[in-house]
Amino acid sequence: LVSFAACAEALRRADFPQGFVFGTASSAYQYEGAVNEGQRGPTIWDTLTRRPGRVIDFSNADVAVDHYHRYKEDVDLIKDIGMDAYRFSISWSRIFPNGTGEPNEEGLNYYNSLIDVLLDKGIQPYVTLFHWDLPQALEDRYGGWLNSQIVNDFVHFASTCFKEFGDRVKHWITFNEPHNFAIDGYDFGIQAPGRCSILSHIFCREGKSSTEPYVVAHNILLAHAGAFHSYKQHFKKEQGGIVGIALDSKWYEPLSDVDEDTEAAARAMDFELGWFLDPLMFGHYPPSMQKLAGDRLPQFSTQASKLVSGSLDFVGINHYTTLYVRNDRMRIRKLVMNDASTDAVIIPTAYRHGKKIGDTAASGWLHIVPWGMFKLMKHIKEKYGNPPVIITENGMDDANNRFSRLENDLQDDKRIQYHNDYMSNLLDAIRKEGCNVHGYFVWSLLDNWEWNSGYTKRFGLYYIDYNNNLTRIPKASVEWFRQKSTRMRLQR
Ligand code: BG6
Repeated sequence: LVSFAACAEALRRADFPQGFVFGTASSAYQYEGAVNEGQRGPTIWDTLTRRPGRVIDFSNADVAVDHYHRYKEDVDLIKDIGMDAYRFSISWSRIFPNGTGEPNEEGLNYYNSLIDVLLDKGIQPYVTLFHWDLPQALEDRYGGWLNSQIVNDFVHFASTCFKEFGDRVKHWITFNEPHNFAIDGYDFGIQAPGRCSILSHIFCREGKSSTEPYVVAHNILLAHAGAFHSYKQHFKKEQGGIVGIALDSKWYEPLSDVDEDTEAAARAMDFELGWFLDPLMFGHYPPSMQKLAGDRLPQFSTQASKLVSGSLDFVGINHYTTLYVRNDRMRIRKLVMNDASTDAVIIPTAYRHGKKIGDTAASGWLHIVPWGMFKLMKHIKEKYGNPPVIITENGMDDANNRFSRLENDLQDDKRIQYHNDYMSNLLDAIRKEGCNVHGYFVWSLLDNWEWNSGYTKRFGLYYIDYNNNLTRIPKASVEWFRQKSTRMRLQR
C-alpha cells in the first residue's frame, strides 16, 4: 500500500496535455469467445489452438472471457474506471465468415451494438481491423498473408468496416503488431499460422534464412496502405476519422558504448520498428535490412513506395519492455537460429555485467524498464520527425496461480508501479522532449486468454474468476486509475 499511495501522489492524469486520451485495449480472439455463434467463420487461431502443445495450458479461446455476451457489463467497467476510450478489434471472420463476399448481418449487428453502447457511455471506440485472427478460409484458399491476393481482400474488409461503422468510429488501427505476427507466425512458428523456419534450419540444415516473414510483412504494408487510401478517397471527407497502425517496439539499448554495440542496437530497432515505420514514413525499408536480408526482402515498386509512404495519420506503439543488444561478431545465433533477428546480426540480452535490466513480470520476456519508454519516444521523434503517436498498448502480467489468495491477486501494487513509472516516462518525453504523444491504452481491461500462455497469465485491471462464472473483480489498479481520472476531471 505504501507504493500505491506514493504513486497516487506522484503522477496526475491532469499533467498530460489537454485532449490526451486514456483507454484500455483488448482483441477479438482473446476476449469474445462465442466462436461458433453469430455465423462466425473459423480463424487460423481456432486451428492452431487445436494442435497439441501450442498453448501452454492446452486451452483455446472458445469461451475466453465471454465478451461477446458480456460487452455491456464490460463497457460499464470501462466507464467506471474513468477511461475515455476502448480499443477493441473486429473479427474479420464475424464480418466475412469465408473471408470475402457479402457481409454477415449478425457480425455487423454485434459490432454496431458494441459501438453504440460505448458511445452512449461517452467512450470513444478505437478499432483495430486485424489482431491476428485471419479467416481460415483465406489461409486455405491461397496461403493467407503469403499471397499478395490478400491485399484486395483486406481492403474490401477494411472498406466494409469504414462504410458500416465509420459514421461513429473515428480512430482506425489497420494492423496490430505486424512484426510479432510475421516473426512468431512464420519464423518461430509459435503463433498462427504456425509456420516455422527455425526448425527446418535445425533439422534440414539447409541454411536458408527466413524469407516468409519478409513476404508477409510486405503484403501487410501494402494492405495497410490500400486501406488507408480507401479511407482517404471514399470516407474521410464525410466521416472525418483518422487511420493508423499499431507497431510493437521494444527499446534496444546498446550493451556498451563501443561503436559496434551502438550500431547493433540501431540494427535491432531497424529490424523491429524500422521494418514497418521506415516504409510508412520514407517509402523504403531500412538500409541495414536491405543490405542484410538481401533479395529475400521484397522491394517496393516506385508506385507502391509512393502509396505506402505517408500512409499514416498516427503511429500506434505497443511498448512493454527493453533489452540490451550487442553485436553478434561471431555470428553465434546463426548456428542455432534462422529468424529475421539473425539477419540483424545482434544478440539481445537482459543482462549487463551480470545485472538484470529490470524486474521481470510473470512473462519471462517482460522486463520492467520504464526508461525505455522515454528513449523510444525520443527515438521516434528524432528519426521520424515527431509524428503523432498513441501508445496503443502498455501493461504487465501476473501469474494465474491457483494457490494464491484472492486478496493478494487483487492487490496488484506491482502493476500500479509499472503504469506509474511508464506513464511518468511518457510524460517526461512529452514535456522535456516535446514528443507528440496523444494517448495511452492499458493492456488490458480484463485478465484474458493470452496467445501462447492461455489462461496462465493475468494482464487485466480486472481479475477474472475463472472458477466462478468469469466474474469480473476490480484489482487495486482500477481504483488507482479511477482516482487519477476523477482528479483529472476536477482539475481541468
Ligand atoms: C501484445 C499483443 O503483443 O502483447 C496482445 O498485442 C497480447 O494481444 C499482449 O495479449 C501480451 O502478450 P502475450 O504474448 O503474453 O499474450
